[in-house]
Amino acid sequence: AVSVEFLKELPKCEHHLHLEGTLEPDLLFPLAKRNGIELPAEFPQSVEELAAKYSQFRDLQDFLDYYYIGTNVLVKEEDFFDLAWAYFTKVAKQGLVHAEVFFDPQSHTSRGVPIAVVTRGFSKACERAQNELGISTELIMCLLRHVEPEKCLETIQEATPFLKDGTISGLGLDSAEKPFPPELFIECYEAATKINPDLKLTAHAGEEGSSAYVVNSLDLLQVTRIDHGINSQHDEELMARLSRERIMLTMCPLSNVKLQVVSAVGELPFQRFLDADIPFSVNSDDPAYFGGYILENYIALSESFPHWDHQTWGKIVKNSIEGSWCDAKRKQQLL
Ligand code: ADE
Ligand code: ZN
Repeated sequence: AVSVEFLKELPKCEHHLHLEGTLEPDLLFPLAKRNGIELPAEFPQSVEELAAKYSQFRDLQDFLDYYYIGTNVLVKEEDFFDLAWAYFTKVAKQGLVHAEVFFDPQSHTSRGVPIAVVTRGFSKACERAQNELGISTELIMCLLRHVEPEKCLETIQEATPFLKDGTISGLGLDSAEKPFPPELFIECYEAATKINPDLKLTAHAGEEGSSAYVVNSLDLLQVTRIDHGINSQHDEELMARLSRERIMLTMCPLSNVKLQVVSAVGELPFQRFLDADIPFSVNSDDPAYFGGYILENYIALSESFPHWDHQTWGKIVKNSIEGSWCDAKRKQQLL
């Protein structure tokens, strides 16, 4: 296998990172205290107990139940800033050069935190990452698929100023996948695109849902990228299309193991995707919950696919730069 030093030095891009998923237990409890937030009685009450819970989740929903309770401690603009800034400083040391990060405005607006407070906190951290760490960034708002589409349309309206001025440059779709297929959100994607025709589009699909969720996200939501997309492996025609149309899958190996999508990283279809020339990137999803940031995901992958040489890793990194949403000039710098 290649060395950890080699993996660290690679110019890595992250495309699948939920900022709320970077909330470490040792920040969660102090923030709860700072903001006077009482956690539910059944929620672990100490850093140790919470860290123990994070060692395994039954499935996506089991994780989401904890994740949404955790987000309740985020209230003020500085909370959002602090959270994102802690992430950027951590991954700057791991060789991250470009980050396209997700956030879930509805998990905050539903508690009365204005979308402007959330967006400003996060975008200030993005700006500082650019200026002080040389990490280029894009901020992507995700709609929660368990929220009714009419409510999601309201969220898009509330986000209008940030969609218009480019503070938010992408739209995604996350949360419980299977009960909420992509076709429910056609109008939402259309509405957001109307506000800014340059908006970049993605959606979680094929994590627990079938390959049809991937196909429908492409055809009905007009996304140009797919988050996870693992179950694309069961549809040969789709596989050919992903390669032909250069649709990048933003894969998250440690997440898939922690949420028991697979029992080991080696079971994931990375080799098949490489052989089929399907572009993918390697990402951490919710690193505070899944036991590793971007470098740990690269390392886990290298341990599971030890025959990948420098050239193979070079191709993975090149695909992930080319699939990024930064402009051509920045891509040229990164290549
Ligand atoms: N929200 C945060 N992480 C997620 C994931 N992996 N899938 C769906 N929704 C999420
Ligand atoms: Zn995700």
